[in-house]
Amino acid sequence: MVNLASLWQYLALQAPLHSAMSTDALNLTQLGLTAYTLPALPYAYDALEPHISAQIMELHHSKHHQAYVTNLNAALQAHVTAVAAGDVAAQIALQQTIKFNGGGHINHSLFWKNLAPPGSKETRPEAAVGLVKAIEATWGSLEEFKRAFGASLLGIQGSGWGWLVKEGGNGGGLRIVTTKDQDPVVGGDVPVFGVDMWEHAYYLQYLNGKAAYVENIWKVINWATAGERFGGVVEEKNEL
Ligand SMILES: [Fe+2]
Repeated sequence: MVNLASLWQYLALQAPLHSAMSTDALNLTQLGLTAYTLPALPYAYDALEPHISAQIMELHHSKHHQAYVTNLNAALQAHVTAVAAGDVAAQIALQQTIKFNGGGHINHSLFWKNLAPPGSKETRPEAAVGLVKAIEATWGSLEEFKRAFGASLLGIQGSGWGWLVKEGGNGGGLRIVTTKDQDPVVGGDVPVFGVDMWEHAYYLQYLNGKAAYVENIWKVINWATAGERFGGVVEEKNEL
């Protein structure tokens, strides 16, 4: 799988490629890179019902997430061609498209894995003892954290995401952050779990009842995955 490190490595070597290859035909495959692909969901489309409908999940995964992947690959390919052609203006013009679609791919890939079928053992906070202790130490109680997190989600204006992150610095403390549009968590912070607050994540089922979506999301949060991310057991940013 391609990752940004591979891409940057290529970009650093752009000059030899410029002279060796036709800029009309450059693509990710020629560079020995595999395009990003839509990851399979770790459960069925109807597995999160009744809290998130099968219709939402199927559209969200197979249409919305797929579009981010498709558009990211197209933008990366165009960027490679622009680099080889020495067209800096074209490279700059592609940055926002790469950020938006790359962020969409990263965020949704994390989101699917930090959800689990309601009633499963993964959805119990007991599946993340160390994380819950850290939450209690930071917010006083799990319930108080949920209130604070929910308020942050409902405070997002327009489209965006809410995240519990483990800070890369500052002693690795916990913090609630929101990101706009498809901006991913960056800067060394580890996303423990995220909640998609785009209307496509809930509107077909909850309509304007955003607060009910936020309340019910707790029934499908995968605490086991969250605990693993908090404990550094998984390093997902290199798995895309
Ligand atoms: Fe989404």
